[in-house]
Amino acid sequence: MEFMLDTADAQAVKELSEIMTIAGVTTNPTIITKSGKTPEQVFDEMNAVLAPEQKFFMQAVATDYDGILEDARRICSLRKNMYVKIPVTHDGMRAIKQAKAEGLNVLATAIYSPDQAFFAAMNGADYLAPYVNRMCNYGDGVQWVRELEEMLELNQLPAQICAASFKNGNQVHELIVAGVGAVTVAPDVVRGMLDHPGTQIAVNEFTEAWEGAFGRRTFA
Ligand code: E4P
Repeated sequence: MEFMLDTADAQAVKELSEIMTIAGVTTNPTIITKSGKTPEQVFDEMNAVLAPEQKFFMQAVATDYDGILEDARRICSLRKNMYVKIPVTHDGMRAIKQAKAEGLNVLATAIYSPDQAFFAAMNGADYLAPYVNRMCNYGDGVQWVRELEEMLELNQLPAQICAASFKNGNQVHELIVAGVGAVTVAPDVVRGMLDHPGTQIAVNEFTEAWEGAFGRRTFA
């Protein structure tokens, strides 16, 4: 599976990429505007910390078909392994078809139901981003993603689910257990999953025991 970071914070990507295996980084217009940086700055900073094989996702901002496609072509030309995120509006769905016909890398986003995701997969989208936490306002978001997995498998559609919009580590955990292909998670939620106070307590116990017995804090 692929674990991605949902952020415009390049420093957080650099730090977490050093200690985890991060397949890529997703952003959206809200994440970029909240960062206080221009999209160009966000791209440059992210491009500087990402390895060439790590994927980077930026979203089309135009909402009409021609505008979405123009944004998509521009975004995908920025670097290798660059993906455009396209919301699954009517114009967006149409643009996904055309973007795929042009060979662009596409993630269908702002997905609130398994059916929307399924139609985007039929249009050739590479990734589908169901908004898990937001879907929970309308039903069981985690269960809907499980159903989507089945729908894709039964119909042999190659699109990968990149589950998004998580508010806590348990939502992420449940989808990893369900075998989801990819998740994108904000750094603060990732840190909540990564850290446990018991780990440091255990390490302190080991160090104290070793030092007490051998008078040193290294193996040899
Ligand atoms: C990811 O690609 C989505 O844009 C993002 O996870 C949406 O998250 P939000 O519900 O916190 O805005």
